[in-house]
Amino acid sequence: MKIIIINGPNLNLLGKREPGIYGSLTFETYFDRLKEKYPTIELEYFQSNIEGEIIDKIQETGFDYDGIILNAAAYTHTSVGIGDAIKAVQTPVIEVHISNVYQREEFRHQSFISPNVHGVIVGFGLQGYELALLSFK
Ligand code: DQA
Repeated sequence: MKIIIINGPNLNLLGKREPGIYGSLTFETYFDRLKEKYPTIELEYFQSNIEGEIIDKIQETGFDYDGIILNAAAYTHTSVGIGDAIKAVQTPVIEVHISNVYQREEFRHQSFISPNVHGVIVGFGLQGYELALLSFK
């Protein structure tokens, strides 16, 4: 099984960025642990701060990977283009948010991603990525 985790803008700063909201673990450390725990899954990781690069990666992987786990971060709330890319591909996408966006500012309650995904996991911290992974097993 081939799964990719795609993280959007500012998630490269996990560990340093607003640790009260996002925790103090870097994504690289979390990702290494995940790979160790699920050695039979071919697990890839991609992060970009650039909207078009995220769209390119969804198109690139969206026809032959078994699953895409996507945290589009701030683009969740703004990007018609990422929403359309998810609609255009065949691979099921699970949307993940580390924080509970519904407990936060009103603008975070809107998602251009949610209507087009298989499921949404919100507010479980980094563990949300593992829950998404398990949904593909
Ligand atoms: C986030 C929530 C978004 O509102 C925010 O812009 C992020 C991270 C989360 O994982 O909780 O960058 O997607």
